[in-house]
Amino acid sequence: MSSTIRLDPTRLASAYAQVRSLTEALAAPLGPEDQCVQSMPDTSPTKWHLAHTSWFFETFVLDGPGYVRYREGWDFLFNSYYQTVGTMHARPRRGLLSRPTVPEILAYRRAVDARVVAALPSLPADKRALVELGLHHEQQHQELILTDIKHVLSCNPLAPAYRDPGREAHPAEAPALRWVEDPGGLVELGRDQGASADAFGFDNEGPRHKRWLEPFALASRLVTCAEYLAFMNDDGYARPELWLSEGWDVILREGWRAPSYWRPPEPGEAWTVFTLDGVRELDLAAPVCHLSYYEADAFARWSGARLPSEAEWEQVAGELEVAGNLLPTSPKALARASLHPEAARASADSSGLAQLFGDVWEWTASPYSPYPGYRPPPGAVGEYNGKFMCNQMVLRGGSCATPANHVRPGYRNFFAAPSRWQFSGLRLAKDL
Ligand code: AVJ
Ligand code: FE
Repeated sequence: MSSTIRLDPTRLASAYAQVRSLTEALAAPLGPEDQCVQSMPDTSPTKWHLAHTSWFFETFVLDGPGYVRYREGWDFLFNSYYQTVGTMHARPRRGLLSRPTVPEILAYRRAVDARVVAALPSLPADKRALVELGLHHEQQHQELILTDIKHVLSCNPLAPAYRDPGREAHPAEAPALRWVEDPGGLVELGRDQGASADAFGFDNEGPRHKRWLEPFALASRLVTCAEYLAFMNDDGYARPELWLSEGWDVILREGWRAPSYWRPPEPGEAWTVFTLDGVRELDLAAPVCHLSYYEADAFARWSGARLPSEAEWEQVAGELEVAGNLLPTSPKALARASLHPEAARASADSSGLAQLFGDVWEWTASPYSPYPGYRPPPGAVGEYNGKFMCNQMVLRGGSCATPANHVRPGYRNFFAAPSRWQFSGLRLAKDL
């Protein structure tokens, strides 16, 4: 498929309708009070996400000579970090915006939708590419809506569920861990850049380039809660030799003794965990999640293994079909979304690998750096990814909160090492 097909106005219009409606379906279980809370500087209120994703279309698609903004001043409120388009409201203060209200923001969405849909048939190709970018941007915020509201709700002593009624948990056995070997050598990773590419990718996913890999093996599945509990019970959080220096400082300062959202048991009882369906008994076979990079790294060291590099991960995942415990993309299918990582199925596919896509984002040992030859695109959207290539680590594979048609083998997510409010876990790797 070439970009002429990809950016066909009719195709774009249907993708636009689908993505915009899923965002609102994700907010639908929430009241206006839920949607206003900012529980920490990293999280944003739901209604801010609803507005910011609309601001993105106004700013990068609709704005131009003669364009009149929907509301004066809202560009200041809902710009996230694009310094070249103007100044912005401070991120940690997003939760102080009681106005505009949720109904006002939903009306803003309707207005932007009408303007984008009306403009689409006559938009030039460069603007249609920005509509496409806006849709992939909004899908990133769909995941953030879920991870942010999970954090918000977890701060309530009554631990309310995001949706009602909760879906039944189906605990299963995790299959035995096997090592899937790869000879390494000279490999290629990353995507060919340029408007003529077959499928969408963010700028940071290219250019395609060569890497040398020593022979390695990747674990056949994700690390489970049972395995992580063994690390905890072996005094993992109390042994400095297992930790990076920064990590050791953080766990002492924060008092971390378990993954985020785990709730210590009463004597003789089982661990419980806060999920989007409320508090549940910990499923020992499910992948461990809500780990910082430091915890993932310390666990890998304790195991006698290590984290994979992003090149190793992509070398193995590059040819595989994207399937797994991901977020359904149609509003109707949301009711069967798991919204929590689930135990691997015993029958992995012919690759021998399970859970490469979905369940949890997998921390890699790779710093988020530009690939050789990377240049941010010209203009304000050049601020989208490139300027964050410092002090963050790459995560691969998508999570149970990632829209199913959003992730791909070359997708590079990135977060700072102490972050653990995302659905982040790990898969082990080792040298051969
Ligand atoms: C790729 C998930 C780190 O959260 O800032 C949203 C996604 N980029 N709006 C982020 C994003 C612009 C980004 N992450
Ligand atoms: Fe954004």
